[in-house]
Amino acid sequence: MLLVTGGCGFIGSNFIHLLRAERPALPILNLDALTYAGNLENLAALAGDPGLQFVRGSVADAELVAALFAAHPITAVVHFAAESHVDRSILGPGVFVETNVRGTQVLLEAARRAWAERPGRFVLVSTDEVYGSLGPTGRFTEATPLDPSSPYSASKAAADLIGLAYWRTFALPVLITRCSNNYGPYQFPEKLIPLMIQRASQGLSLPVYGDGGNIRDWLHVSDHCRALLTVLEGGAPGRVYNIGGDNEVANLAIVRLILGALGKPESLIEFVADRPGHDRRYAIDATRIRRELGWTPRVDFAAGIAETIAWYATNRSWWQAIVSGEYRDYYERLYGGR
Ligand code: NAD
Ligand code: TYD
Repeated sequence: MLLVTGGCGFIGSNFIHLLRAERPALPILNLDALTYAGNLENLAALAGDPGLQFVRGSVADAELVAALFAAHPITAVVHFAAESHVDRSILGPGVFVETNVRGTQVLLEAARRAWAERPGRFVLVSTDEVYGSLGPTGRFTEATPLDPSSPYSASKAAADLIGLAYWRTFALPVLITRCSNNYGPYQFPEKLIPLMIQRASQGLSLPVYGDGGNIRDWLHVSDHCRALLTVLEGGAPGRVYNIGGDNEVANLAIVRLILGALGKPESLIEFVADRPGHDRRYAIDATRIRRELGWTPRVDFAAGIAETIAWYATNRSWWQAIVSGEYRDYYERLYGGR
């Protein structure tokens, strides 16, 4: 059985959809606390799937996590659950340490105890943000020293290093992935691309931080999910894998692209105060995963972003429920009477 944590979030839900299509016989246990970012509707198409079980709870709840390992034959973990938004980590860093650092250690410890009896593999979904900020040239390799800027990326770096320590000290088969920025369906509309699509669709102003010249290396979420499956099945324990699509784009270029696609005027752009500690540029060297595991991205950015904009237009009710707060009633409607 595979334990997926954070399976109701953006990447976790896309990963579960991919598994259902490509590994239909694999039993999955999804542990998610359903924070503001977790949305059961992301998995609504799989409701009733007997191979997919959901448990609402926190990865930082050591008793619950130990009980899940005792009750289920878990032999693999893909750990997504996290507080994931840099701006929120600036407003309130505490929960980032609790979920991202302590929650990860709780899971690693439970796996270590359970897997003394049976072997397993633990994929720890880290991020390229652990490397900090790049100047105009160069790319992050797996050997780049960690130098995180925000409470979010610092908490992810701590989790990442604790994972590596569990491999070196206890021989727990931990595999680390460090991926660049993702985009695609089901991304919570507080992150750049869905925020801009959603606001532009409503004719609202688009807040661009600083001069809009910050660069991210964008990868379609389906390519990230395929990379994670590749690492889960073929990666070497104790190894770190960078994941990225060689696709550097400045924020302002993305915002203009979205406005053009939606037929909205550039006058909606509003330059606002910069994010404190704002990383200027991320760029990933993904040579290792390409050479060693044969992974390669499939989705071209122009096609992927057009498809993503179309997805948000077709699924307007999905993001409207989030923007209005209604989506939080979903759990009560679904589980309230049980
Ligand atoms: P998200 O915020 O959309 O989803 C996070 C999920 O984790 C939600 O379903 C939430 O309910 C759940 N969660 C939060 N705290 C929890 C807890 N204590 N216990 C159990 N569940 C909890 O995030 P995302 O964008 O899908 O990111 C998933 C993972 O991928 C994170 O670890 C993130 O650091 C990493 N990552 C994200 C990106 C990106 O571009 N989004 C890039 C690289 C790495
Ligand atoms: P974000 O989606 O928060 O991802 P991250 O900070 O983890 O890379 O932001 C992507 C980029 O977009 C980042 O440079 C900050 C910028 N940004 C804005 O300019 N305006 C916004 O409203 C948001 C949310 C982000």
